[in-house]
Parts: sequence; structure tokens; C-alpha cells
Amino acid sequence: MAIMVTGGAGYIGSHAVAELLAKGEEVVIVDNLQQGHRNAILGGSLYVGDLRDADFMDTVFRENEIDAVIHFAANSLVGESMTDPAKYYHNNVYGTLCLLDKMKEYGVQRIVFSSTAATYGEPENTPILETDRTQPTNAYGETKLSMEKMIKWFDHAHGIKSISLRYFNAAGAHESGQIGEDHQPETHLVPLILQVALGQRQHISVFGEDYDTPDGTCIRDYIHVSDLADAHVLAVEKLRQGGASGVFNLGSGNGFSVKEVIDIAREVTGHPIPAVAEARRAGDPAVLIASSDRAREQLGWKPKRDNLQAIIASAWAWHQAHPQGYKDWK
Ligand code: UFG
Repeated sequence: MAIMVTGGAGYIGSHAVAELLAKGEEVVIVDNLQQGHRNAILGGSLYVGDLRDADFMDTVFRENEIDAVIHFAANSLVGESMTDPAKYYHNNVYGTLCLLDKMKEYGVQRIVFSSTAATYGEPENTPILETDRTQPTNAYGETKLSMEKMIKWFDHAHGIKSISLRYFNAAGAHESGQIGEDHQPETHLVPLILQVALGQRQHISVFGEDYDTPDGTCIRDYIHVSDLADAHVLAVEKLRQGGASGVFNLGSGNGFSVKEVIDIAREVTGHPIPAVAEARRAGDPAVLIASSDRAREQLGWKPKRDNLQAIIASAWAWHQAHPQGYKDWK
């Protein structure tokens, strides 16, 4: 029996594929390569196509005996979702509907879903609990919440069991140095800082120094991408053992401000990394920190790389070896 990984050529998806392969799982990757990279796939079978293409999905489901789906495929840029929400509803929400329809048709009863802290919006509490209010402040988070809810109703009606994993800030790269973070365009703090250290940018912009935090910059909960990947393996295992559907936060429980992240990157890289204060970025909550107690208790998940120095060092190793990202490989 194989595990289908949609979006398996993307940043988090490719790290999950690596963990599944290390566990000896048979992996079938479905990716339209809009954001994903062929070179990010370390094994398994790749099908290049779109979830919304029913004929394509029939081929994948017919040619493989799929036991569970891990669903990463989605657009994930908060800013873009505010200017082009239709793209997010079409690819994320409609894409998930198409996938669930096919799972129903082919009798696949387990799905692990890649969700986000953006489903919460401005948090009610710190750290954030899964039971807290979900009120997204951007279209991206709204589509992810809609996808979670759609999946829930497919369980209710058709018995498709699901685990939705709400990630906080994924960072870092695989310990092999073979796969890492490469988005086009890049908008994430850690890779942008490392581009400064590589001499590809003059400075890092700090979006807002007037937040209600100790140093005035936003605080986030950074979690190593391979720790996120491990949680997917555990979630599939839980569903295979007949576990109930549920929603889980995945974070380290530690918050770091933008200035602290830059300071740690200065230590790790030995580069001065000039920083320039700029205006706030729209839609950024001041503080996002997860409580991951539920994942620890119910999935048996334990982040192994929960030190930001080590997370940034792993990202730095990847960026130094691949200064142009996956382009270097072609
Ligand atoms: N930031 C800067 N300068 C930059 C880039 C980012 O100061 O050049 C700041 C942001 O304003 C934010 C922090 O660094 O305060 C982290 O920003 P990222 O863009 O790296 O990450 P986000 O917290 O905005 O978003 C991440 C994921 C989203 C997800 C969200 C959930 O990328 O997909 O976490 O919290 F929705």
C-alpha cells in the first residue's frame, strides 16, 4: 500500500517524502510543479499533474494502491491571497474538493492535511490552543480553514478520517543537505536573511518595530521542517491504527522576535546582515506561539531540533551549498 503525497515536491512536502522513504513507506507524489521542484524529490514515483484534472487523478489512483493521502498541494502566500483570492479558492478549496471526491470514489479513507496557524487570525491566547477561536485575517488562512471543514464533513458523511496539522513557522533544511527551502518569489524571513548573508541582497527589511512586544518586532514560533515532517508520519500511523479525526498545532512553543532571528543568523553565518526598519506588513499578528501539547500527548510527537541556532544552521548549510536554490541542479 502506498501513501499519496500531494505537493510532495514543495518545501514541507519534500521533507515529508524524505521521512516516509526513511521509514520504508511506498510513496506516490502528485505535484503540478507550479511551486514544487523535481529535484526536491528523493525517491518514490512522481506524477506531474493537477488535482483538479479528473482523468489525471484517475490514472494515479488506478495505477497505485493508495492507503492514505497527505495533502500539501496549495498556494500559500498571504499577500498574494489578499490581491487574488480567486486563485486560492480555485487551487486550494476546489482542488481539495476534487481530491476528496476521488478519495471517496476509490475508497481511500485516511487523509493528513497541511493546515496553518493562519486559521486562527489574531490570537485570543498565547500560546494558542486548538480550541481557540478561528478567525482568519487573510484569504489564505480562510481557504485553509474551509479545507479543514470540508474534510470534516467528508468524515461525517463518508467516514474519511483526517488529521489536520496547523503549522506555525516552518524553517530549516534536511540534515542530508539535499533538500531545503526555495520559493519563487521568496517572502519568508529566514531564507531572506540568509540571502543577505550570501551577498544576494543588501539588507533585510524589518516589517514594523512598533508592535507590542519587548523589542517592538513580531514574535513567531519557528519549527524545523523535519520535525513537521515527522508529525505527518505519526499522523498516518495514528489513522492506520483507527485513531479518531482531529486538529493539531505544530510548533516549538518558543517565540523569537524578528530582531532575535536576525541576531541568531548573524551568529550562525558570521555575516553582519544589515537590517533596515520598514512599515508593518499588512495582516501580521504581533505574536504567534503554539501550544503543541495535544500533538505531543495524542500523536506522541516530540520536536527533536527545537533550537533556533540549529534550525538556522541547517538552512544555512543548504543555502551555501545551493545559493540559487534548485536552479543550481538543472
Ligand atoms: N518579516 C520581516 N521581513 C521580511 C520578511 C518577514 O520582518 O523580509 C517578518 C514578518 O513580518 C513576520 C516574520 O518576519 O513578522 C515572519 O514572516 P514570514 O513571512 O517568514 O512568516 P509568516 O509568519 O508571515 O507566515 C508563516 C507562513 C504562512 C503561514 C503563517 C502562519 O509562511 O504560510 O506562518 O502563522 F500562514
